Amino acid sequence: MSNDAIVMLKEDHQEILRAFREFEQAGENAHRAQEKAVDRIIELLTVHTYLENEVMYPRVRELVPDLEDDILESYEEHHVADLLVVELAGLKPENERFAAKTTVLIENVRHHIGEEEDEWFPKVREALGRKVLQEIGEEMAAARPTAPRRPSQPSALKKTIDAVIS
Ligand SMILES: [Fe+2]
Ligand SMILES: [Fe+2]
Repeated sequence: MSNDAIVMLKEDHQEILRAFREFEQAGENAHRAQEKAVDRIIELLTVHTYLENEVMYPRVRELVPDLEDDILESYEEHHVADLLVVELAGLKPENERFAAKTTVLIENVRHHIGEEEDEWFPKVREALGRKVLQEIGEEMAAARPTAPRRPSQPSALKKTIDAVIS
């Protein structure tokens, strides 16, 4: 397994995109299958967003000042996803808004992942190089076991609330 930060984050993205496809293939009335896919989406996104917000983004912001605007935009995209995830976590699949909200979340996150992978991760790789990316990767690996897995966990909730009130 690679300890390169960008490789690790891209592996997360693949898993997230797989869970999106599971939801899309579940079929409109397959509530249990939809619920299972959404549970997985919520867990994967909560962990991934936390690691980017707490480790990757602050380090990139500090080390590659040219990417400041991309980082700020990405924080806002995470914030929109966080809000949808919090709402989704409280909805039953029978609710008429469940599938619609999930679809909007998926659209948003696909767009966001595309920007990370195609637009600014390549610039991060170029600016930081292998050694620094491995250090950041190790920091993320260390933070992963205690990262929140549900949006209701205090460390995840705090981030969402801070973004709204500060
Ligand atoms: Fe992100
Ligand atoms: Fe990401």
